[in-house]
Amino acid sequence: MKISVYGAGYVGLVSAACLAKLGHRVICVDVNEEKVRLLQKARCPIYEPQLPELLREQIQKEQLVFSSNIKQAVVNSELHIIATGTPSLANGSADISQVEAVVSSIVKWITANATVLVKSTVPPGTGDLLQEKIDEELVYYNKKIKITVVSNPEFLREGRAVYDFLNADRIIIGGEAPSLFLVQSMYKSLTDRGIPLLTMSRCSAELTKYAANAMLACRISFMNQISQLAEVFDADIGEVAQGMGLDPRIGPHFLQAGIGYGGSCFPKDVRALLHLIKANNINANLFEVIDEVNQEQKEWLFRKIKNHFNSLKGVCIGVWGLSFKPGTDDLREASSLVIIQKLLVEGVRLKLYDPLTIPEAKSLFPENEALTWCNSAVAALEKVDALVIVTEWPEFKNFDLNRLKQYLDKKPIFDGRNCFDLSGVIAAKLFYHSVGRPAISEAFYKEKKCS
Ligand code: UDX
Repeated sequence: MKISVYGAGYVGLVSAACLAKLGHRVICVDVNEEKVRLLQKARCPIYEPQLPELLREQIQKEQLVFSSNIKQAVVNSELHIIATGTPSLANGSADISQVEAVVSSIVKWITANATVLVKSTVPPGTGDLLQEKIDEELVYYNKKIKITVVSNPEFLREGRAVYDFLNADRIIIGGEAPSLFLVQSMYKSLTDRGIPLLTMSRCSAELTKYAANAMLACRISFMNQISQLAEVFDADIGEVAQGMGLDPRIGPHFLQAGIGYGGSCFPKDVRALLHLIKANNINANLFEVIDEVNQEQKEWLFRKIKNHFNSLKGVCIGVWGLSFKPGTDDLREASSLVIIQKLLVEGVRLKLYDPLTIPEAKSLFPENEALTWCNSAVAALEKVDALVIVTEWPEFKNFDLNRLKQYLDKKPIFDGRNCFDLSGVIAAKLFYHSVGRPAISEAFYKEKKCS
């Protein structure tokens, strides 16, 4: 099938490369000419495991090409996939202007019947709006052809996006025949492998994406709030999550308490859904607190650190992890940014280390003398008064605790991602504060008489 993908961002690039891998001829278009030039040389502009290899392979096979010429893409394709961004506007609603601009270009250059597939995350009703817009513009251009809008939301996780595309747990398509059949045939090699494909109305498909992300975000905020109660009673949130997760009606995933969710999707989509609910005069209580609890939880580390030190001025703290989760170089809405900002205001000096994000993070905090950028986890431990863990990268989770003791001795660790088992921490005699678990402090060792 001849397919064009509009937008060489994270969803567009992964989709374009994976569809080429499935045997389609794909042309991926972006307005950013510099990015296109990079991609034409088979260089990947984002960090995403498996993607650079896949891009090289498909470009070499001539299954995938990149262009900034939208007309060339439109006239050479039968299926048009929109994967441009839908960032938050100031009121929280999704800005669909990039999607609309692509639709207008498609209508301008199109010469035959076609299907427009919307992969961008858009509020329910957007497909209907786009369809109306297309029909009006076709009349304006006096084109006697039919263009049909189909919704096809993406559920890709950063760091696992190629795997997720090729091994999706479900494919959701919203629209009507005969366009639906075309999209079904695009995914045939995946559905032949048993991946379920659900067809539904366009609005249902659009709403499914928001509801799925909000449900996952809600689970995280739910566990984060329960973790605060666990701390009051010296309970262990990990044990609670395990006990809950074995109930098949609940399941074990996304029950990990921490210091809040970040990234390019959950925060933005929860806010967009909240805006949509309010705009339709529905009581939005539940959706208001998902985001509120998340904002509060991002300050958890800061509150703990502040309570521990009498004054933070001149204190030096090592920070492990900056990205919003491990396996990505993405700093969007990362908890690290909130914590760094708050500690800097209090006059703290920070030694920061992350396996991937240092160059990007440096550009967010230019020339700040209170910040030392480290090139290893160990460098961020030297001569610090405390260690803060923000992202659970494997190199931190697997760090030898006896070695950690050599650097920190009785200086506290504030772990926002519960990287270590408490038994290992106690065996190494570390001073450790984690989320929703008993504090392993001086008082703890005194009580156990094992300091
Ligand atoms: C998410 C959705 O999972 C994906 O389906 C959608 O298409 C895009 O948004 P992503 O943003 O890549 O994917 O990250 P994800 O792995 O879902 O994690 C999001 C955030 O939640 C991270 O900050 C992570 O640390 C946090 N999280 C996740 C928790 O705090 N606890 C958990 O149990 C799981």
